[in-house]
Amino acid sequence: MTQPLELRLQSELKQRQATGLLRTLEVLDACKINLISNDYFQLRSHPQVIEGAQAALERYGASSSASPLLSGYLPCHEHLIGQLKTWKKKSHGLLFNTGFVANQALLTHLPGPQDLILADRLIHHSIAQTLGKQSTRFKRYHHLDLGHLEELLYRHNHENETIFVVTESVFSMDGDYPDLRQIAALKKKYTFIWVLDEAHGTGVFGPTGGGLAEEQGVLSEVDILVGTLGKALASMGAYVLTNSKTIIDYLVNYSGELIYSTYLGPPQVGAAEAALKIIQKSQTTARSIRDAAVRFRELLTNEGWQTNSFDSQIIPIILGEPKDALELRNKLLEYGILVGAVRPPTVPQNSSRLRFSFHANVKEEEVDEIFSLLNSWRKK
Ligand SMILES: Cc1ncc(COP(=O)(O)O)c(C=O)c1O
Repeated sequence: MTQPLELRLQSELKQRQATGLLRTLEVLDACKINLISNDYFQLRSHPQVIEGAQAALERYGASSSASPLLSGYLPCHEHLIGQLKTWKKKSHGLLFNTGFVANQALLTHLPGPQDLILADRLIHHSIAQTLGKQSTRFKRYHHLDLGHLEELLYRHNHENETIFVVTESVFSMDGDYPDLRQIAALKKKYTFIWVLDEAHGTGVFGPTGGGLAEEQGVLSEVDILVGTLGKALASMGAYVLTNSKTIIDYLVNYSGELIYSTYLGPPQVGAAEAALKIIQKSQTTARSIRDAAVRFRELLTNEGWQTNSFDSQIIPIILGEPKDALELRNKLLEYGILVGAVRPPTVPQNSSRLRFSFHANVKEEEVDEIFSLLNSWRKK
């Protein structure tokens, strides 16, 4: 590497280290309890999910070995997207290799130069990273503030060819969520394309685990639905679902993320399909995950910790300083409890936090242990 490049990269890394924001890779697979993974139903080692992966492995091999436009699109892909379309009641769909690239593909290729993107201020990086990169204008509305969204819709309604409104359902770092019925109601007053990322709503919300849009009865209003296979569905990959054949045809023709990449491996597809079958019948489990998360939030709030009062499986404890988040995360790790210490730039300045993802195997006594460890850290 040339000297100037080395020096610049090192200086930026040192800056991160000095502010407590340096990220490092760690192997952390031997913890007593993992409250950081997104395997909400603990399915990645479930016998049926492993069997699903094995069956696809034996039938199609370890790799799709080509782009989907060459020979990489296999019957297992076609079958899984069919199941997902039925589940989320959309007529067309496409699998992508990850949720990150699905979002990149959508927001890079669909909006044009005459269009406007309105996105929640805390939208996931896979979307945020596309904003401003192409010629489409964008504005961010205050987090979950649908009054602000309406103000922007009102102001820009007639200036643009198409407006895209983009939000997550359950936000990945806050575990809060917008009132999707209100966004559906806005569609009656303003014309826009609604893109909803259900990465964390899928499985845990809705009468068949179909997500927050299913739970709030607005699935039919969502124009483009994104979800990942790497969270509740215990695999890897993602899907885009819509009632527009044109959108899918367009992505197949113009999305380099899809066209120039080896397609999702058959074992991942087989695992996701097996997990999907389990999740559709797991609403009692989903309810108990959310109940446990609500109880934890109540304990925290009563003790003066800063969290929120939502009922999702993702619980943040806002600490502010990155060093506090790291110190407390490391303390819990000493007891075999793995939680996320999330710091800027993943979250806004002064909002470093612990992030807990509750899952099907979290026990009440474990939550009580965590709660008492948190309190003893604070009293130190
Ligand atoms: C809201 C949201 N969208 C998209 C993604 C990306 O999904 P994947 O992990 O499949 O790339 C994530 C993952 O962190 C996410 O939280």
